[in-house]
Amino acid sequence: MEKIKAGIIGCGVIGSEIASACVTVLSKKIELVALYDIDKQKSAGLSKLIKKDVAVDAPDELYDKSDFVIEAATGGVARETVKKVIEKRKSVLVMSVGGLIESQDLIEEAKKKNIKLFFPSGAICGIDGLKSAGVSKIESVTLTTKKPPRGLAGAPYLKEKNIDVNSIKSETVVFSGSALEAVAGFPKNVNVSSILSLTGIGAKKTKVKIVTSPEFKKNAHEIEIIGDFGRMTTRTENVPSEKNPKTSKLAALSAIATLTAAVESVRFGT
Ligand SMILES: NC(=O)c1ccc[n+]([C@@H]2O[C@H](COP(=O)([O-])OP(=O)(O)OC[C@H]3O[C@@H](n4cnc5c(N)ncnc54)[C@H](O)[C@@H]3O)[C@@H](O)[C@H]2O)c1
Repeated sequence: MEKIKAGIIGCGVIGSEIASACVTVLSKKIELVALYDIDKQKSAGLSKLIKKDVAVDAPDELYDKSDFVIEAATGGVARETVKKVIEKRKSVLVMSVGGLIESQDLIEEAKKKNIKLFFPSGAICGIDGLKSAGVSKIESVTLTTKKPPRGLAGAPYLKEKNIDVNSIKSETVVFSGSALEAVAGFPKNVNVSSILSLTGIGAKKTKVKIVTSPEFKKNAHEIEIIGDFGRMTTRTENVPSEKNPKTSKLAALSAIATLTAAVESVRFGT
């Protein structure tokens, strides 16, 4: 069987992990044919690291060479990538899901044109249960993100409300609202809120709480889903990536697991 030709946009932490998987565990099914980064040193460096001379100078070169595009750059790039992929009739895996929180139009267009779009679960668990629950009626989806004060410092919402997280002495809810409001007020939580919203009941109905305490040492995401099926809760405590503390280790692993599911004939889980 012919291998799937893959190209990666964004050669940072996640792009590098995916590229390494493409030339090792996924190499029987995937051929990595292009790497693009706005910072040419990153794509050239990654190309050298994985011993594959596939760095390209422009995104269009990547689109021409690839059947399967992997976006691991930034939110701003995600929408543009999906548009291009639809136009050129390729498949795509999107990591910067936050860039698509208000792009239901593009997702519907991809469905209509039978374009394959993959959104890994990223740094959370529970997307499998949410998908199953959505086959019937979902009443509510609530994300509670717990972070140490330094993990929230500088968020636009805190500045606007004059909240100094460093003066907080015990567990405090600093934000409660819709995922849409959370994304604007806490842009660093954008991917988790977005994948939940897009999979479930949308960004206006998905509820988000952000909690901090000087006692918290790790970032944790708790999800509660209530629907016809009953109630489920999940809790994920993330280890940050060694190279980029903003990105959880589980995010890159979930991308590799999604790619594996996309190319394998046997599939486990929903
Ligand atoms: N879905 C999730 O749960 C999840 C979790 C973590 C991170 N992410 C997202 O995945 C993306 C990648 O994360 P990362 O940790 O690898 O980030 P990173 O900063 O390590 O790497 C991003 C790379 O993209 C490149 N880049 C920036 N703008 C670009 C452009 N216009 N064209 C091409 N390349 C560009 C940068 O130079 C950098 O090398 C980010 O958007 C991040 O928010 C998603």
